[in-house]
Amino acid sequence: MKVDFYRHHLGEREIKELLETLGSAFLTAGPKTSEFERRFANYLSVPSVVGVTSCTAGLFLALKALGIGEGDEVIVPPMTFIASANVVLHCGAKPVFVDVESESGLLDLCKIEAAITENTKAIMPVHLYGNMVDMRKLKQLAELHGLKIIEDAAHATEAIRDGIRPGQIGDSAAFSFYATKNLTSGEGGAVTALNDEINQRLRLLRQHGMSKSAAERYHNKYQHWDMLELGYKFNMFDIQAALLLPQIESAETLLKRREQICQHYEAEFSRAGIEFPKVPSGCRSARHLFTVWAPSGRRDEVLNRLQEKQVGVAVNYRAIHLLTYYQNRYQFKPGAFPVAESIGDRTLTIPLYPKLTDAEVEYVTASVISSI
Ligand SMILES: Cc1ncc(COP(=O)(O)O)c(C=O)c1O
Repeated sequence: MKVDFYRHHLGEREIKELLETLGSAFLTAGPKTSEFERRFANYLSVPSVVGVTSCTAGLFLALKALGIGEGDEVIVPPMTFIASANVVLHCGAKPVFVDVESESGLLDLCKIEAAITENTKAIMPVHLYGNMVDMRKLKQLAELHGLKIIEDAAHATEAIRDGIRPGQIGDSAAFSFYATKNLTSGEGGAVTALNDEINQRLRLLRQHGMSKSAAERYHNKYQHWDMLELGYKFNMFDIQAALLLPQIESAETLLKRREQICQHYEAEFSRAGIEFPKVPSGCRSARHLFTVWAPSGRRDEVLNRLQEKQVGVAVNYRAIHLLTYYQNRYQFKPGAFPVAESIGDRTLTIPLYPKLTDAEVEYVTASVISSI
């Protein structure tokens, strides 16, 4: 048997929406993008959503919209995808790494206060694998120190913890619709705004600082626009939105299948004594990625064995402070963030998507148990 690492779930409904869009006047940001923004905001129960080209763009715009710049510090976990820290650098600010919890791999809230300086302006929790950081506790901490919260919710569209979804109490949360994400348009993203001021700034910044969007400029009669500040070109467009709209409807149903697969993996791996990150209590995980922790020093051997058995694998993630660029820039040495490093040395990701058949799930389970 061969089990791909990922297969998307786009089907007839997405194709129908796409064809409708291709037959319409607007291929760029138009009515479908606006509809996506409304419906996604509704799904998340957040005040507003701004459609962008990627989660990276969304995180960057959120930092910009919240005024993060030169000389500022932003707290970021080192157990994440590089995008989380890279966008901080792109703003001219410094990512300050804070280690993660050993049970979940999520930012360790108990270690944040020790990392706060007079330059700290924001915290970027990462809802890793779809498991949410304790946002209520983080919000209290942020308010105590006057810090903004920008959530990296790339993995966490369907996540809820203690009744809170990403974007509901963070100043801004960015989502990814990259090719392997739970909802996908190949590339794409969305960013939430907790208030109208952030919403307006995100909208300006995503399109060159222009006072009117393409749809507004061409509505009925041509209308002049102005440039109000120096912005970027990160707007979502209708082709992406068309693919995403039906997926908002199916998200809850598909999550049930993801949950079922994860519970099977968890039960079998627990029985076999294999370790994996725990979903925190009170959290409904978005179940984006399923990772297992190989015994220390054996991860690459296990990866190779699984590939020999034709099981698709990935590594999410090696701790980012030890990647060449960050190590050179900030002279990090091994041992700086031991929990993230230990997870980064042991972690491997196995197939998890609704299209997996029961036989494939059984095959992946048996392959992991016999390879580890
Ligand atoms: C945790 C995390 N943050 C940010 C991103 C960036 O997302 P995008 O590729 O949509 O820019 C990813 C992408 O995989 C991610 O996994």
